[in-house]
Amino acid sequence: MAQVNDIGVDLGTSNVLIYMKGKGIVLREPAVVAVERESKKILAVGSDAYRMIGRTPGNVMAVRPLRQGTVSDFELTSTMLRYFVGNVVGRRLFARPRAIVSVPSGVNEVEKRSIISIMFDAGMRRTQLLDRPVAAALGVGVQFEEAYGSMIVDMGAGVTDIAVLSMGEVVVSSCVPIGGDYFDDAIIRYLRKKHNLLIGERTAEEIKINIGSAVPQVSDITMDVTGRNLISGLPKTQSVTTSEVYEALKDPVMELVEAIQAVIERTPPQLASDIFDDGIVFSGGASSLTGLTEAIYTALRIPCGVADDPQTSVVMGCGRALDDLAGMKHLLESRKSWSR
Ligand SMILES: Nc1ncnc2c1ncn2[C@@H]1O[C@H](COP(=O)(O)OP(=O)(O)O)[C@@H](O)[C@H]1O
Ligand SMILES: [Mg+2]
Repeated sequence: MAQVNDIGVDLGTSNVLIYMKGKGIVLREPAVVAVERESKKILAVGSDAYRMIGRTPGNVMAVRPLRQGTVSDFELTSTMLRYFVGNVVGRRLFARPRAIVSVPSGVNEVEKRSIISIMFDAGMRRTQLLDRPVAAALGVGVQFEEAYGSMIVDMGAGVTDIAVLSMGEVVVSSCVPIGGDYFDDAIIRYLRKKHNLLIGERTAEEIKINIGSAVPQVSDITMDVTGRNLISGLPKTQSVTTSEVYEALKDPVMELVEAIQAVIERTPPQLASDIFDDGIVFSGGASSLTGLTEAIYTALRIPCGVADDPQTSVVMGCGRALDDLAGMKHLLESRKSWSR
């Protein structure tokens, strides 16, 4: 009989990662589906679909079904998840693996149940859900079993989860729509206003990753950006500087600071003081923005650190939970009525 390995799934708003017990991360794909507009036929999933963003012919659209952290298009989410899990698990007739899935915080009860049912159809024996900030904390290795407060901030593309953990559970948490996409949108708006330049989402993301900064930089780096001149309607290449991107990102970064502060205000004082001592741990791809932790430290005077490999924290946390199912029992959500 073929060996069955349990899997951990990070169903993110921009990337899906799958961890397989004994093997490590076995899949890492953009959460994108390419669909034919009229027939709704699915043309590609994952990296093949990602390449079509912004450059699809009129009848094809590349969709990120989990964009804002909620399942904006459930049909597509199902197809995508089934496709990725199927790729990793294959067809297993005798032994069904277990799965631990971390879904975006905005996903509602009905959608959670459907995700479990999709996983069952994809060949899982049992699927349990793990809260995103808890998964991130486990992945980073934050110890939160003791009566001591730890803060974790997981910044994805669509949303940011902010949570205070203590005694093995979430004490206070919040989920805000301030993530990587929000930064990209701010860059798009800024360049439209300042240079009459219209750029696409992928270009904005490249600018953010290449020259973006949440704090002023001493020396300016520039990047040539091609977009469409809004007045002439013609293509235009504009040189964009780090200072400009800093200007564009200043307000969104402050909004994030306020969201973190609001969670700290709701945190019991003793735990808040632990956080002031130990600092905030960041995970998720969007926390890689240059100067982000520095900007947060400057505003809140709380030390901040980013996980070593922030984009893999959540899936690694799901993996750790698989290794200790009994110990993690109180953190895992199941939907009994749906296991068939
Ligand atoms: N070096 C970087 N600097 C700034 N943002 C980054 C960097 N690398 C990735 N990102 C952003 O991280 C986000 C994706 O993070 P990820 O954790 O995979 O998201 P999700 O969990 O929502 O799928 C995207 O918005 C991407 O632009
Ligand atoms: Mg993530």
